[in-house]
Amino acid sequence: MNIDKIMYKYELAYKKIKSIFDFIYNEYSEKNDVNPIEHIKYRIKKSSSIEEKLIRRGYPVTEESVDKYLSDIVGVRVVCSFLSDLEVIKNVIRELEEKNVFKIIKEKDYISNPKESGYSSYHMIVSVPINYNNEISYVNVEIQIRTIAMDMSASLEHKVCYKKQDYSKMLQKMIKDATEFCGMLDKNLDNIVSLEKNSEINNRDNALKVVYPFMQGSEFRLNRLKYESGLKFVRDEFLELYNRKYISEDGVNPIEHIKSRIKHDDEIVRK
Ligand code: GTP
Ligand code: MG
Repeated sequence: MNIDKIMYKYELAYKKIKSIFDFIYNEYSEKNDVNPIEHIKYRIKKSSSIEEKLIRRGYPVTEESVDKYLSDIVGVRVVCSFLSDLEVIKNVIRELEEKNVFKIIKEKDYISNPKESGYSSYHMIVSVPINYNNEISYVNVEIQIRTIAMDMSASLEHKVCYKKQDYSKMLQKMIKDATEFCGMLDKNLDNIVSLEKNSEINNRDNALKVVYPFMQGSEFRLNRLKYESGLKFVRDEFLELYNRKYISEDGVNPIEHIKSRIKHDDEIVRK
């Protein structure tokens, strides 16, 4: 199987889905509103893992098998702050489907029905159209949506236990307990967040009228260009480190994800 030839198609889908979700993230950030998204992580499976997965599942190592059986070559993980934010993101994805950006072909709700390990996440498989060899091809992309709390335990569980069931039972139990604790945390946070949201709606007129005294008449505009290029420089350095294949001696990437930001104007004034 010429895996590099197949990978090109997936790289196109990766670029497309990344630009869609980066756009959503930036739209929320620029609105100066609360961003329901904490961070987004994108990944494309390495050709060696693709072959390994096909063999592990007993499928022939062919291009057809990759298309037919694997829907997680390209993956997007949207980490949200609170449970209610997950609904916001699911709705955004459904709106995109209505606009024919892609088609949702499967949904798995591991939040209502967590896995044996305690793993909680909402999964959507979407079929993304790409222009490949001058015709439209479809590539499946796995979107995982979860809260910060779910992500904490799932990411650790993934690193320590998932697919390596021989790990110490004690460690597995500790992570499972942490997962349960995070589930409770999410439910309690959700109660507080929805209370605040309701009071905000009741007092919307007042809420909109709050103006900080020190901001009155302020027309402060940061020259963002300068800061954007500074940020880009530092971010690129980190991304290069992140993408380097064997970053540490044991070949494991010590960076889980990288998040960057430039302070908003009103935040700067307030500070
Ligand atoms: P995989 O072969 O592992 O991709 O599973 P699948 O094709 O049966 O799909 P499933 O929805 O079960 O899992 C998709 C992805 O969710 C996995 O690749 C993991 O990233 C994540 N996942 C599923 N189960 C667990 C789990 O128990 N723990 C952790 N940490 N992640 C999980
Ligand atoms: Mg997978």
